[in-house]
Amino acid sequence: MSQSLNAMKMELIDSALPLLKGGGGCGGGIVATTDVALACGGVDIAIMLGGFPRRDGMERKDVMSKNVSIYKAQASALEKHASHDCKVLVVANPANTNALVLKEYAPSIPKENITCLTRLDHNRALAQVSERLNVPVGNVKNVIVWGNHSSTQYPDLNHATVTIEGQEHPVRGLIADDRWMKTEFITVVQQRGEAIIKARKASSAFSAASAACDHMHDWILGTPEGTWVSMGVCSDGSYGTPAGLMYSFPVHCKGGAWSIVQGLKIDEFSRAKMNATANELMEEKYLAYSCLTP
Ligand code: LMR
Repeated sequence: MSQSLNAMKMELIDSALPLLKGGGGCGGGIVATTDVALACGGVDIAIMLGGFPRRDGMERKDVMSKNVSIYKAQASALEKHASHDCKVLVVANPANTNALVLKEYAPSIPKENITCLTRLDHNRALAQVSERLNVPVGNVKNVIVWGNHSSTQYPDLNHATVTIEGQEHPVRGLIADDRWMKTEFITVVQQRGEAIIKARKASSAFSAASAACDHMHDWILGTPEGTWVSMGVCSDGSYGTPAGLMYSFPVHCKGGAWSIVQGLKIDEFSRAKMNATANELMEEKYLAYSCLTP
């Protein structure tokens, strides 16, 4: 077993997590392995963290081709060994397109069970509003992140609300600064991942892990009444997005299933941003498919 995997196992044991149950203690419930068949055997929930990060001098196509082969292999392993109803969350970048490749190569896992992480961007948007309005972040809800987990994503405040003294108010009205909402807010959320990489010389870790927990928690246990969250899911063509793409939508979750929130009004500004991020996902899809060897 690799040393870092062993370190991870020790940290899991040391976290004294109440749901981490194992035979006889001493981490007996943790299987730390580099054997893909063993790792995927009978799993009900798979959180896919592994990917090939972009390095200096690498073209987009080089990164894509590395990730396509990683995700093709991981999909085949899940297809063969995981539980038939396994729920999958792809975190590694390019998350939406990695999830798309996984969906193609694990055809017996229902497509509704394959998702990617945009909850990190959703949480970033909630946090920006909380800071701007000086309100607890738990009082802000129903921001939306549309599209790709990349710098073309569209964080949208048009339907967000803040609860103050028991009353819900539209975020737009409270902020009352269209320029900020259409420029700075969007750019900060879109580029937060890059800002963190610059500051700590590595990708976000704690916030990404916390967002992955939020994603799985709400998917399995449900979203509170009147609240939605953002998840990268297989588009059914809602809001004019290309069907089949892994696109981030506002979703409600209930009984272990998500459904895209319908009927939200989309203005011209939003339409253009939603199309731009869909176009990038289409380009990524073509690039990924061109890297797939038959
Ligand atoms: C993030 O949003 O923090 C990461 O996805 C950034 C990255 O490229 O690893």
